[in-house]
Amino acid sequence: MKQREHFGSRFAVIAAMAGSAVGLGNIWRFPYILGEYGGAAFILLYVAACLLLALPIFYAESLIGRASRSDTFGAMKKLAPGTAWRWAGLLTVVSPLLLLSYYSVVGGWSVEYLFKSLSFSFTDVPADDIPHLFGRFISSPWQPLFAHTAFMGLVAGVVLGGVKGGIEKFSKVAMPALFLLILAILVYSLTLPGAGRGVEYLLKPDFSKVTADAGAAALGQAFFSLSLGVGTILTYASYIKKDENLMVSGLGTAVSDLLFALIAAFAVIPAVFAAGLQPGSGPGLVFETLPYIFHKMGQGVPLVSTLVSSVFFVAILAAALTSAISMLEVGVAFLTDERGMKRRTATWILAFGCWAVGILCSLSFGPLSHVKVLGYTFFDFLDHLCSDWLLPLGGLIFTLFVGWKMSKKEVRNEFTNGETVNTRIFGVIYFLMRFVTPVGIVIVFLTNLLM
Ligand code: PFF
Repeated sequence: MKQREHFGSRFAVIAAMAGSAVGLGNIWRFPYILGEYGGAAFILLYVAACLLLALPIFYAESLIGRASRSDTFGAMKKLAPGTAWRWAGLLTVVSPLLLLSYYSVVGGWSVEYLFKSLSFSFTDVPADDIPHLFGRFISSPWQPLFAHTAFMGLVAGVVLGGVKGGIEKFSKVAMPALFLLILAILVYSLTLPGAGRGVEYLLKPDFSKVTADAGAAALGQAFFSLSLGVGTILTYASYIKKDENLMVSGLGTAVSDLLFALIAAFAVIPAVFAAGLQPGSGPGLVFETLPYIFHKMGQGVPLVSTLVSSVFFVAILAAALTSAISMLEVGVAFLTDERGMKRRTATWILAFGCWAVGILCSLSFGPLSHVKVLGYTFFDFLDHLCSDWLLPLGGLIFTLFVGWKMSKKEVRNEFTNGETVNTRIFGVIYFLMRFVTPVGIVIVFLTNLLM
């Protein structure tokens, strides 16, 4: 039998998982969702959602992955042969593709902003005008479409050409660079006049903002950010060695992801206040704010601003690409492995489909902004459908599988590496996976439905 590949070290495991987890979700989505749901109170909800609901699912997914040593479909077939569980695998093919359709639109915004930085578009105008550039850009029909097409082309190119190794090597440099840059932005943004109100907004919870809606949004963000409920973590875990401590690698990934998001929030929100913008102004928040900070950082020297902002957008593009590739790869793997399709054909068909759906999302900020599905624009509808419903649903299935379908002995054996680690904490985690997490997700679903 073919020996399955392994990650070489604990660091490699955490780095790979964090590579999928850290992406636009941390830097683009977290600050604006937090701004829409009221700042500090949302952070508390988010941390609770991460620890009580998302982390146990992270463990459930990694447990299934390592126990079965296969992808989502194979895992269900192997661990529960002949049962309906394998249909859960289908959900995890559909959700990442829907996710990719609108993720690529935002990826496109990064491409466009990289070009804008390189062509000195942000230094040619007064700082206070920069936030308005975004509105003009996304409401125009063609520019965002070109950008979306370019991003999807990059994703398909990488999945096709197999230069995955190159991208991964590149992102090993880009990710730490991104982290350092965000830290630098944070320090700078705190010095801007008016930033104090932003810090207060992030630290002083207003408990009237703790609503069912905000709870659902926190859960959705936790799933989005940790790449849960779509089988990505499951697949990565299938490459983890048997003696690796699942609890430690899961915690390491979740903590790095959370740190990244919090640092991004503390870098962006104070600057939002300093620039006189509204934290609840929606998906454009980061694109309106960061170039403004870069402009100010340059202190009148265009080259400095251009350099900082170009490096930033290259890094964010790398982070977005590594995440997007993993979304397309799930569907491609399904069509090639289960349907016998050629890799090339599968990649083109799926990338084309996602691109076409993405067009509607892209236009929903401009010419199609009046077209609503259940009260949402196409973009917002897909985002809510994926984050608030499909990803948590996928997670629910995984945690039910581990808590109720697999035998306790099997789960215990996998989590404790045959009674060598985590023996004391196992009871707590198992309890969370069996009762707390599923009930929590169902409560969030129900309140979401009834409110
Ligand atoms: N976690 C990624 C982010 O925060 O940008 C998004 C993501 C990647 C979600 C891969 C799901 C996935 F399978």
